[in-house]
Amino acid sequence: MSAGFEFVVVSNRLPVDQVVSESGGQSWARSPGGLVAALEPVMQEQDGAWVGWPGIAGTQLEPFDVDGMHLVPIPLSKSEVAEYYEGFSNDTLWPLYHDVIAAPSFHREWWETYRRVNHKFAEAVAEVASKTATVWVHDYQLQLVPKLLRDLRPDLTIGFFDHIPFPPYGLFSQLPWRVQIIEGLLGADVVGFQRDADSGNFAQAVRKLKGFPSKGGQIEVPIEDPNPGVRVFEPVRYLGQSRKVIARKFPISIDAGAYRELASRPDVQARARQIRGDLGNPKHIILGVDRLDYTKGIRHRLRAYGELLAEGKVDPEDTILVQVASPSRERVQSYVELRNEVELTVGRINGDYSAIGHQAISYHHHNYPREEMVALYLAADVLLVTALRDGMNLVAKEYVASRFDNDGVLVLSEFAGASDELKRALQVNPHDIDGLKQSILRALQMPRTERASRMRSMRRHVFENDVRRWSGDFIAELDQIRAERGNAIGD
Ligand code: G6P
Repeated sequence: MSAGFEFVVVSNRLPVDQVVSESGGQSWARSPGGLVAALEPVMQEQDGAWVGWPGIAGTQLEPFDVDGMHLVPIPLSKSEVAEYYEGFSNDTLWPLYHDVIAAPSFHREWWETYRRVNHKFAEAVAEVASKTATVWVHDYQLQLVPKLLRDLRPDLTIGFFDHIPFPPYGLFSQLPWRVQIIEGLLGADVVGFQRDADSGNFAQAVRKLKGFPSKGGQIEVPIEDPNPGVRVFEPVRYLGQSRKVIARKFPISIDAGAYRELASRPDVQARARQIRGDLGNPKHIILGVDRLDYTKGIRHRLRAYGELLAEGKVDPEDTILVQVASPSRERVQSYVELRNEVELTVGRINGDYSAIGHQAISYHHHNYPREEMVALYLAADVLLVTALRDGMNLVAKEYVASRFDNDGVLVLSEFAGASDELKRALQVNPHDIDGLKQSILRALQMPRTERASRMRSMRRHVFENDVRRWSGDFIAELDQIRAERGNAIGD
C-alpha cells in the first residue's frame, strides 16, 4: 500500500471522458449526467483522488490531473463494457431500479462480469487509499464495492450513495443476485439515498433477505466469523458483535451559486435574448432538457404537446417546444428504440404544425456547454420535467438556480426525487396526459405574481440546500463513524 489519499471518490465514470478524433487526436470532454455534475464541485475543493472509467473501451491511462482533480483511470475491455456497463448496469439494474419501465434482462454472464469489474474497482481503491482513509463509492454500477473493499481494507471508513431510485421489494426481489447486492451495500458504514421512499425500500429488502432490523435509519449488521474452520455446511456463524450501518436520505443538489453567477453574466443574458430572437421571438418557449433515456418521459411530453397543438389549444405561431436530448448509452437496444421513436414523433409533429420560418419543436440531439444551458434556462418560460421515475433530476434545480429574475414556471413530475423538495412547482403525473396538458396550459397562462412567488420559494430551498450541504452532511456522517471507530480501537 502506498502513502495514498485520505479521501477517495469512486464512480463508474470519471468526470471527463476521453475523446479520440478521426485523425487520432485525443481530448477530454465533460461526462454526462447528474452524478458528475454534483460531484465535480465537491472534488475540486477536496484534496482527494477520483477513481473511475475514462469512457472508452480498451484504453490504459496513467493517473492524471484535470481542473484541480486527481483522476485514477480504471481500464475496461470491450467485453467488460458490453457486459458490466451496457449489460448488467444499464440493461438489468437501470430498468429494474426504475420501475421496470423497460423490461430488465437477466444474464448470468453479465452478473459474473459485474462482479469481476466491481473487484477491479475495489482493488484499485485499496491501492490508492491511505491508512484509515475515507472512501465514498457512488451509484448502481458499483454496489458490490463497499463489501469487497471492507474485506480488503478493514481500516477504511466507507460511504455509498445511490443516485438512482432503490426499488420496492416486489421489484427488487426479481433480481437473481439480490442477496449479494444487499450484502455488497451493507459493507458501507453509511448508505445514502435520494428520498425516504428509497431508504425505506432498502431497509425492507435488508429485513426480508438478511433478517436485520432497522430503527431510525440505523441497521445493526452482525459481524461474521471470519474463520469458519470446517463448518462448511452450517449457516454463517456470527461473533455476537455487530456493526452499525446508517441508511437514510441525503437528497443531492447542485452548485447553485455557480448557476446564479453564470445567469447574471451579461454575455449569457445576451445569448438568452439571441436564442429567443433566433427562435422568432415567440410569446412562449417551453423547454425540455434530458439525457435521451426512457425514464425521462419524453414520449409522454410529446404526446401531450402534440394533442395541445392538434386541439388548437397551443398555437405553433407563438409557442415553441425546445427539446434538448443528450446522447446516452447508444449501444443499448432500448435506447436505440427510444431515439427512433422520439425522432419519428418530433418529425411528425413538425411535419403537421411547423411553418416555413418557425418550427413547432426545435429538437437537439447534442450536449451543450453549461453557459449555453443557462442561456436556454433564462430564455425558457416553462421547463417541463416529466420523468416516469428519476432519482432526483438536477435539471429542475439548475433551472430554479438560474432564474435570478424570479420568473419561469417549473412543471415537475411527482416521480422525480426533486418533487419532495420543490413543492411549489406545478407537480404532474406524466402518465395522466390530460392532467399534463392542463398543467402545461396553466404554466403558459400563469400570472407574473404567481410565477414570482413560486420561483422565489423554490430558489430559497435550492440555495439553502446546495451541493456543498449535501456532501458536507454525508461526509460529516462518515467522520462521526470514523471517530467512533477510532475511539473503539483506541487510535
Ligand atoms: C445517471 C446515473 C450516473 C450516470 C449518468 C450518465 O445520472 O446516475 O451514474 O453516470 O446517468 O449515464 P452514463 O451511462 O453515460 O454514465
